Amino acid sequence: MQRASTERQISALCITSLRAQIEPPLPNTISPKIERPCHHRQVRSGQKPRLCGQHRFRSCIDLAGIHLLDSEGFRLLFDLLELRPGRRRAHEWEYRMKSSAVTVVGLGQMGAALVPPFLRAGEDVTVWNRSPQKAEPLVAAGARLAADVKDAISSSDLIIVCLADYATSDRLLRDEMLSATLRGKTVVQLTTGTGAEARDAAAWAHDAGVTYLDGAIMDYPTMVGSPECMLLISGAKEVYDQYSTRLGVLGGRLTYAGPQSSAANVLDGGLLTMYYGNALSFMQSSAMLMAEGIDAGQLEHALQTFMPVITATYKRSADAIQKRDYSGNEASVQVHTIGVQSLLSRAEQDGIEHRMLKLFADYLNETLARGHKDAELPAVFELFSPK
Ligand SMILES: NC(=O)c1ccc[n+]([C@@H]2O[C@H](COP(=O)([O-])OP(=O)(O)OC[C@H]3O[C@@H](n4cnc5c(N)ncnc54)[C@H](OP(=O)(O)O)[C@@H]3O)[C@@H](O)[C@H]2O)c1
Repeated sequence: MQRASTERQISALCITSLRAQIEPPLPNTISPKIERPCHHRQVRSGQKPRLCGQHRFRSCIDLAGIHLLDSEGFRLLFDLLELRPGRRRAHEWEYRMKSSAVTVVGLGQMGAALVPPFLRAGEDVTVWNRSPQKAEPLVAAGARLAADVKDAISSSDLIIVCLADYATSDRLLRDEMLSATLRGKTVVQLTTGTGAEARDAAAWAHDAGVTYLDGAIMDYPTMVGSPECMLLISGAKEVYDQYSTRLGVLGGRLTYAGPQSSAANVLDGGLLTMYYGNALSFMQSSAMLMAEGIDAGQLEHALQTFMPVITATYKRSADAIQKRDYSGNEASVQVHTIGVQSLLSRAEQDGIEHRMLKLFADYLNETLARGHKDAELPAVFELFSPK
């Protein structure tokens, strides 16, 4: 591998990320020569850092995902930065990843899925679950099973909680016997809950001397740890910044939802409402198409092409709702009412379950009755708007 000086150009983000994760400290001579990170290539676990074809510098690599590098990835990176002469075996490295420890409380379908990404990132992972047998595959993969909740909490500074609900979490964590153990730790609550539950948990954490982030996982367990997986995290920005690299191993779409502790849960509720509306509409549409000899696969295929119309509708609706201005020249509520009535009639004629379409028709008829005949579809929002 050729190592000309130009090859040492590397982004500020890479260096910052690297500094945070290895020991001993990097020498100051290793400094970024370009300010903006290069995002032309991604480095993923198990992949070699690849070279950026666009900038044509060997070491101009996108290392935003540096925490995902495995040992081979780090070896190549260090070679590139000339941190060590020659090639050495992993245990001879001059630099190594800092050891960090995380505890995962709750090993249900989702909690168990949170563990492997931390193990792959090289963290010391301690786990606890009411039913300890669920920890067996994770222990086989390298996690340590704590004897009890106190042992679990005392093992790490970062505690990830993923349980059935906040009430379960409260029963486990808000225990006098644990207060001294919890003080000074950081709890990231990934259990699904309401905005009020997140606020209450943040207030408890503040009083207990616990650093707190609230979060929501916006995907299924099989997607956790993938670049596509989305997680929402809310709480103090400086705390989020402190942990975003480590939490980032759980999903490439880790998203800061805002400083209010409730933000992640509230957004989660909004996105889930959209999810169920869309998913149940898919069932309705599939049944109607199958009655006409068209299968669900064709619907799914057509939806890909139709998606821009749906996303444009979301955008126009958000604008209209914010301004409470439903005027426009695309399609009136009257036209939409006739369209939905037609869908309802088709389902009725084909003997297909149609309560959802009836509800749609009711919403549109009521919007008409309120005098929005010439308004655009977002006028239906007035029915949902808090009084
Ligand atoms: N699964 C998903 O696709 C998904 C997606 C996004 C978010 N989430 C959220 O993730 C959280 C966990 O979901 P999950 O799918 O992992 O649920 P799950 O498989 O039903 O697991 C529930 C967890 O809570 C524990 N638990 C329940 N009651 C308890 C009690 N009284 N004392 C101690 N532990 C108790 C269970 O322990 P045992 O194993 O001993 O029963 C288990 O660890 C939920 O808030 C869910 O909404 C899930």
